[in-house]
Order: sequence, then structure tokens, then C-alpha cells
Amino acid sequence: LRSKYLTLIAEAGDEAALETLRVQAVGKKGEVSLQMRELGRMSPEERQVAGPKLNALKDEINSALAAKKQALSDAALDERLRSEWLDVTLPARPRRQGSIHPVSQVTEEVTAIFADMGFAVAEGPQVETDWYNFDALNIPGHHPARAEMDTFYMHRAEGDDRPPHVLRTHTSPVQIRSMEASGAPTRIICPGRVYRADYDQTHTPMFHQIEGLAIDRDISMANLKWVLEEFFTAYFGTEVKTRFRASHFPFTEPSAEVDIQCSFEGGTVKVGEGDDWLEVLGSGMVHPHVLKSAGVDPAEWQGFAFGMGIDRIAMLKYGIPDLRAFFDSDLRWLRHYGFAA
Ligand code: PHE
Repeated sequence: LRSKYLTLIAEAGDEAALETLRVQAVGKKGEVSLQMRELGRMSPEERQVAGPKLNALKDEINSALAAKKQALSDAALDERLRSEWLDVTLPARPRRQGSIHPVSQVTEEVTAIFADMGFAVAEGPQVETDWYNFDALNIPGHHPARAEMDTFYMHRAEGDDRPPHVLRTHTSPVQIRSMEASGAPTRIICPGRVYRADYDQTHTPMFHQIEGLAIDRDISMANLKWVLEEFFTAYFGTEVKTRFRASHFPFTEPSAEVDIQCSFEGGTVKVGEGDDWLEVLGSGMVHPHVLKSAGVDPAEWQGFAFGMGIDRIAMLKYGIPDLRAFFDSDLRWLRHYGFAA
């Protein structure tokens, strides 16, 4: 009986089999239990020999069952550990992160450079009245500049004869708004979106400008030139010469278009070297009519203004040949130029 059960227990494959064996051997009607019942019918001498033997057998079977049960659950745990292991040292799968659009990056960069020179940021609406976009800037209704600007006009309701609002064609209306709000002296830059009906490799119907305005009692073109050269040198990280060419804007007098020094060798533009020139902005001394429109007395105050294309200088810094790509939302393009992960 002993060797029979010890062998069966050793061979049991799971806890259910063990339980069956327990019942068979030491359960109420188990083989060992039945034999123990026989003890009652024995003589005291026989019982003294058989009793301890049966008790020992019962103990031995019980402890064999317990030992086997432990062994089975140890094995089950080992198996789970083997099949459910997790390698926490594996590198994580990379997750693509969003990033700031290049135009926004450049806007922030430009704003920071002018902030260091004491310029505060001003903003204005993108839908403007024709007063702020044109008249107040000394561009009356008949002026050819209105036609030249490829203006987008907003529709008025039928029967409404007031002049239509426009999508601002430049950031210059913010000059007027900010002088109206805080007068002179002032030193501001106004970055933002502007709109013109134009589309080719270097023009998109929406683009970005940054306006500069400095008004005080004795500001001159010399201050303008210093500020711009300081700016370009900081922005391009190398000394950049500028060239002022006489020009005409209704809102400045005198007016100048500003070119920066560059080279065009090998089809790529390099700023700050060579002896070619590239136009990057319009500027001049704020016209007295403009000051007057904004409630600033031109007998006391004067200053300079400039307007620069943000997208244009972003293209130059990062060597981007086609402006339209900025607004295509093509992730491959953004990654290629390092603007997205
Ligand atoms: N507003 C002009 C433009 O959009 C640029 C400019 C700004 C010129 C300020 C002179 C002074 O072309």
C-alpha cells in the first residue's frame, strides 16, 4: 500500500489528481482509513503492532501529498515566470512629437532679437478697415498703391454702401493702431499674417511680415540702419552688410528698400558673404501725414518704420527654395529641414 501510493503521488500531474489520491488513500472511505477501522477487531497485541504502522503510513502519505502539492505549484509558478517575462531593458518605441512651425520659430527668434533692443510687441487684426490699411497710411482711394497690393476685399451685405473691409495687405496698419493707443515716444514691432492675391515660388496669398516702428524726438535714418544691421547680424549669426536704395512708399519720406549682402554661388544663397545683394525689406522715415492720422504731432515727433517678410528671411536662413512648401503641411518636408521629429 505504501509503495503503491508513494509512486502514484510522485506521478500525479496536477492538483486534481492529487486530491483524488488523497481521497482514495486517507479519505473517510480510503484504503488506509478502512484498514484503521479493522484495528477495532484485532487483539490488543496485534493492534499494538499494526496501529503505529498505519499511523505512520497515514502521516507519510499526507506529507508526500503536501510535498507534491508544493512541488506542483512551484513548477506552475516557474512556468508562468518563463512564459510571461518582460524585458524592461528593451528600448521604448519612438513616439513622434509635434513641433513648432518654422515660421513661428523664426517669428519668435526675430521678436527676441528686437526685444533685446527695447522693442515691445504690438498686434492688430487681420481683417482691417480700409482706413487703417490705406487712408491712415497716406494711401488715398485713388492711389495706385491700392491696386498694386492685390488686395482681398471682404463682401458687404447687399445695399450696404460703406467701403468694404480688407484682409490687411501689410502690418503697417498696426503702426496707426499702436500710436493711437499709446502715442509717442514708442518702440514696437508687429509680427503677423498679411494677405495678397499672389502665388508663385516666392509668393503665397497669405504670408508673414514684421513691422518695426520707433518714434521719438530725434530718431534718424542712421538709427534705422544701425538697428537693422544689428538685427541681421544677430539673426544670421554673422556680420551682414546692408545697402539702402532710395524708393517710394506713401507712408514714409524718405523711403528706402534695404538689401542684405549675399552670394548666389552654386544656386544657393549665402547671407553675409560675397558681393551680391538681396532685397529683404521696405523702410523709411514715417510720413508726417501718418503721424497726424494716428494723433501724433509731427512737429514734435519723428521716427522710422520698416516692414520685413518673415517667410523670406526664414527661407534665407534655412536654404529653402520654395515659399509654398511652408504652408503645405508636408511632414516629410518638415522633417527634411529639421522642423519636425
Ligand atoms: N508696408 C510695406 C510693404 O508691405 C513695407 C514698409 C513698412 C515700408 C514700413 C516702409 C515702412 O511693402
